[in-house]
Amino acid sequence: MTDCCQPAYAGLFNSRRARKDAKSYRKKGLDGQSAQIVSFLSTQPLDGTTILEVGGGIGAIQLELLKAGADRAVSIELSTEYEPAARELLAEASLEERVDRRVGDFVGMNGDLPIADAVVLNKVICCYPDMPALLGAACDHARARVVITVPRERWLLRAVMGLANQWFRLRRSAFRAFVHPKQGMIEEATQRGFQLADEQSGRIWNVILFERVKEPPANN
Ligand SMILES: C[S@@+](CC[C@H](N)C(=O)[O-])C[C@H]1O[C@@H](n2cnc3c(N)ncnc32)[C@H](O)[C@@H]1O
Repeated sequence: MTDCCQPAYAGLFNSRRARKDAKSYRKKGLDGQSAQIVSFLSTQPLDGTTILEVGGGIGAIQLELLKAGADRAVSIELSTEYEPAARELLAEASLEERVDRRVGDFVGMNGDLPIADAVVLNKVICCYPDMPALLGAACDHARARVVITVPRERWLLRAVMGLANQWFRLRRSAFRAFVHPKQGMIEEATQRGFQLADEQSGRIWNVILFERVKEPPANN
């Protein structure tokens, strides 16, 4: 993705949204898909594990995984706008020392990032044009598990996203939403040594758990 698109993400995923997300998390805890991700990752012991979350917004999933026993988390978020709200939440939970928050496009950062036991992408792949690059990089950074939340392949959702994209075009925003085919994502993960291990489908979102079945390359 080119640098021109970063302001488009910061414009949509802005400080107002960050404050709203933080308020909702403080009041109600995790939303349904985020809770499902924590539930999938909690089926194996979390103690001492490391988490990498891409596009994690305010970082609520990281907080819950750390409280449940994970050791450390790295957050890579393309929008700059979540940082103040996320840091406030970390301070409230006294977890600042255990989360490394970085701003940027995960796909471009590839080589600089540590491998984690689990990589999380919650409602992120649908915000990114190049699914193979994003999911491929996520798999290459995961020792054991990758969890993603993606929109279901329904005609109504495609139509809604099409309308939303028209609106972004009219607003001259470079942001676009995507319904990437599920089969393509399974094939990408399979090529990187993963298999589909579990799945939870709601009306709009699919939460999908991939588990590593083939060893990562030797330099990992
Ligand atoms: C729909 S929001 C979801 C935020 C959060 N996961 C949640 O569920 O509340 C998608 C997020 O992914 C981020 N994002 C998209 N592509 C990214 C990339 N390549 N690297 C890092 N962050 C990315 C966007 O900046 C945005 O904050």
